[in-house]
Amino acid sequence: MFRYLYSIIISLAAFFYNDDVIVETKFGKIQGVQTSKSRTFLGVPYAAPPIGSLRWRPPENPRPWTGVLDTKEVKAGCYQLACASMNPAILCPKTVSEDCLYLNIWTPANARKDSRLPVMVFIHGGNFVQLSGGSLLFRGEDFVSKGHVILVNVDYRLGAFGFLVTGDGPRDAKGNYGIKDQRLALQWVKDNIEAFGGDPRKVTLFGQSAGAQSTAIHLTNGKADGLFRNAIIQSSPFSIRYKTKEEVLFLGDFIAKFVNCPAGDITCLLNVSAEDIALAEHEARSVVTSPFLLELFEPIGPWVDGDEVKMEPVTAAQSGKFENIPLLIGTVSEETRIFVYEAFKETMGLETYLGILLLADPIKALKLLAKYPPVKSRDCRDTLQNLSTDLIFTCTARNVSRSLQTFGHSSIHLYIFNHPFSAKGAWYNFTFCEGHDCHGVELPFVFHTAHLGGFHLSPEEERLSTELISYWSNFAYTSNPNTGPHPVYLNWPNYDIKQTTIMHFKTPKSELLDEYRKNFCDFWDDVGYFI
Ligand SMILES: *[C@@H]1O[C@H](CO)[C@@H](O)[C@H](O)[C@H]1NC(C)=O
Ligand SMILES: *[C@@H]1O[C@H](CO)[C@@H](O)[C@H](O)[C@H]1NC(C)=O
Ligand SMILES: *[C@@H]1O[C@H](CO)[C@@H](O)[C@H](O)[C@H]1NC(C)=O
Ligand SMILES: *[C@@H]1O[C@H](CO)[C@@H](O)[C@H](O)[C@H]1NC(C)=O
Repeated sequence: MFRYLYSIIISLAAFFYNDDVIVETKFGKIQGVQTSKSRTFLGVPYAAPPIGSLRWRPPENPRPWTGVLDTKEVKAGCYQLACASMNPAILCPKTVSEDCLYLNIWTPANARKDSRLPVMVFIHGGNFVQLSGGSLLFRGEDFVSKGHVILVNVDYRLGAFGFLVTGDGPRDAKGNYGIKDQRLALQWVKDNIEAFGGDPRKVTLFGQSAGAQSTAIHLTNGKADGLFRNAIIQSSPFSIRYKTKEEVLFLGDFIAKFVNCPAGDITCLLNVSAEDIALAEHEARSVVTSPFLLELFEPIGPWVDGDEVKMEPVTAAQSGKFENIPLLIGTVSEETRIFVYEAFKETMGLETYLGILLLADPIKALKLLAKYPPVKSRDCRDTLQNLSTDLIFTCTARNVSRSLQTFGHSSIHLYIFNHPFSAKGAWYNFTFCEGHDCHGVELPFVFHTAHLGGFHLSPEEERLSTELISYWSNFAYTSNPNTGPHPVYLNWPNYDIKQTTIMHFKTPKSELLDEYRKNFCDFWDDVGYFI
């Protein structure tokens, strides 16, 4: 009944606003949906489908079309296996396809051609192998109606489709296509967003996890000049190295063999079905290609090709090769809990903990043990969680921010998010995340989408969500999270090596914090981040 009423309301709204929901892009007209909260254009093609002979080719512009393209529903997510068997459904695309280079646009309900609103382009995470910008968690209706900005959510090629490397001949697969896809989407936004009421000169790029890593790549490869003017880096695992040439070629050979193609035979690989490629990739992900333990977390993804990925973003920050634009950078307080507790379902004894440290770095293992001594020798999972959260997320974020400062970047705001989602069952099978701040915990607050998964926010959580949306969208308006259309009660100062104040997002009230995990981060600055 409600569903029925809802669709009547939508149809009525669409009827009354009929002129406004058709927008002309450079490639043709598209028709979206008007609701009381937003105007929505879903599944808008920003590239030609990367299928057939365009598989493992840089993305190309879409073919122009005549007539009006229907853009009222999300398209299939990029090809991936078994997302929903590993993740809450709210994160996963309903269907998947190799034909997936689409983006989704939400504008405030009253946006008009001349509104000149700031635009926020979001790159989703998922280890470069999963999830989709069209997933419910990233829906933009509330975000744009509360923030009064335009949100664009991008899908990019994942896994083997986005990152396979077979060699460097003219038709070889050369990897990093997912990154190129994201940039073409940014170009599309620059060229088309004005017609939706956006200001192409006020684009903010933001991303979480693999999306944050991608954002950092766009800030360090010198190719995205003029495509965005601010960036937000949410929970980037900065210490996970990108692949070397040897590693990606090894993976490429493995995938070829798995589908019965001679190693490096691109003609043969082009003839393999998407499903078989995905199966081979899935298998390849369990193959260890590197002596560096942390790479197990991202078995397939970007590689340092000297072009798309010039160097590790941490190294770029430490050597002054990072785009100097205003940044918000932050992490959540228990980033690695989900990985540690997934890997160790029971308890983790002292021997196992020591073994992991030795495997990570035989030379530094004892130093690490001294800094992170087990509290309960019969279960070292929380100790490993603390160590790895500092190493991979918290302290690298601090190091990157401080390094940028030494190169004269003056507009960096740092945060720590520290509020466990109160809704019971919100973590589905990851019950060990209940009452904790696991990786991704800030997302339902940033996008205000918990209700789409059937969960409610408490009044305090509503306030926290409003606060995040206010800072994020103010930043899009003015490059400063404190100023813009949304009042904030707490002035979030620039991060400064001497002052070290960061925002501590939490309930009942967020507050400012100095020297967050200083002692541990000083330790990692000393030990180094690539162990
Ligand atoms: C969650 O756990 C239940 C019971 O253990 C299992 O049947 C189900 O397949 C799991 N679901 C996911 C998404 O892992
Ligand atoms: C592989 O090649 C055969 C023969 O040319 C063709 O019929 C088939 O459709 C191709 N399969 C794919 C997935 O391209
Ligand atoms: C992990 O870090 C938190 C925050 O500093 C601390 O309260 C907790 O005791 C630590 N846990 C272990 C097991 O070291
Ligand atoms: C960042 O970390 C490196 C170690 O990888 C260290 O040498 C450097 O001093 C740190 N930079 C800052 C600004 O703290």
